Amino acid sequence: MTPRHFLDLNRLEQSQLHRLMARAHDMKARFQRDRLSIAHLARGQVLAMLFSKPSTRTRVSFDVAMRQLGGETIVLNANELQLGRGETIADTARVLSRYVDVIMLRTTAHADLLELAEHADVPVINGLTDLSHPCQVFADVMTFEEYLGPISGRKIAWIGDANNNVATSWLHAASMFGFILSIACPEAYRPSPELVQDTTARGGQIVIHEDPGEAIAGADCVLTDVWVSMGHDDGDRRMKMLRDYQVDAALMSRAAPHAIFMHCLPAQRGHEVTGEVIDGPQSVVFEEAENRMHAQRAILAWCLEAE
Ligand code: CP
Ligand code: NVA
Repeated sequence: MTPRHFLDLNRLEQSQLHRLMARAHDMKARFQRDRLSIAHLARGQVLAMLFSKPSTRTRVSFDVAMRQLGGETIVLNANELQLGRGETIADTARVLSRYVDVIMLRTTAHADLLELAEHADVPVINGLTDLSHPCQVFADVMTFEEYLGPISGRKIAWIGDANNNVATSWLHAASMFGFILSIACPEAYRPSPELVQDTTARGGQIVIHEDPGEAIAGADCVLTDVWVSMGHDDGDRRMKMLRDYQVDAALMSRAAPHAIFMHCLPAQRGHEVTGEVIDGPQSVVFEEAENRMHAQRAILAWCLEAE
């Protein structure tokens, strides 16, 4: 049986992703009514989490989510495994599959995630790579829908580095959920033309501006992320190139009056966003962080159930 991996939003069937989202909303409501009502869904099962980059939210929210489902967790620093001494990813996948029921990986190269999934007999979940961060954006879409209803047809503005992992997953989401992604970024930090083309071909609407004011006009939701993601070694250049892309109160006022502000966190106040915005009334960043746990509980349950 092929395991149910969660590698990227656009690797699922659209209807499957929509069902998973509906389930995440339902499961959160059920959990909030009676947290023990879902405490059997992963009973006796073990999640291994492999990290080769730092994490606060992903690590803790997955750990807690698995325990809430009645399962157990093992957290591993990838560099402390024999992987760090050259054991192959394929052998690591085969061995871990004999011990655990599901694997979450946070790493640099997306190819390593795909290789792990190819050789694992258990589901593999993408906990962030240099290319994408699907769990984050799944939780973000869930958060949007809680505040403003269905995301389909709405206008979502992304301001700043539009070529990073979170932005890429937002492009994937645009094609799967059918909203308008209005991007403002310098030319050097645009999403790749191939990704834009693929997103458009799958029905996503992407509009790219250089001027943040144009991108944000009338938006239902404003998003940004750090200018220097983990692993980027050109911080000074990025700070200079992106300094006109800060989300401040003046820019935020050009979005729709009901607009929410989201950021995956961790944030750099005074760089990509001002404290006034991220700590202000339109910001839902901590609800978004909480939803990582609710979303991933649904993702884990989906991965673990048989086809
Ligand atoms: N947003 C997010 O993935 O946070 P961590 O890096 O803390 O896991
Ligand atoms: N783009 C950020 C996301 C962190 C959750 C990074 O990769 O550092």
